[in-house]
Amino acid sequence: MSQPVIADTKPVILELEAGTYYWCSCGQSKNQPFCDGGHKGSDFAPLAFEVDEKKKVALCNCKATGNSPFCDGAHTKL
Ligand code: FES
Repeated sequence: MSQPVIADTKPVILELEAGTYYWCSCGQSKNQPFCDGGHKGSDFAPLAFEVDEKKKVALCNCKATGNSPFCDGAHTKL
């Protein structure tokens, strides 16, 4: 499996409404941290996740987290 692109070396903090979101795992989306279809032709696929109520989240942009789609601090070890 190939390595993801590091989209940024810090997480993005967003306040999300309840709903379904598709986190970009490949790092190639131009709409980080969400998938824009840029993974096509690669080994990667977006990760669907649910938000059940409006809340603030820290989404991984370095794509090295062990807790996708959320930041686990992995960007500090790149
Ligand atoms: Fe990265 Fe879809 S663009 S997973």
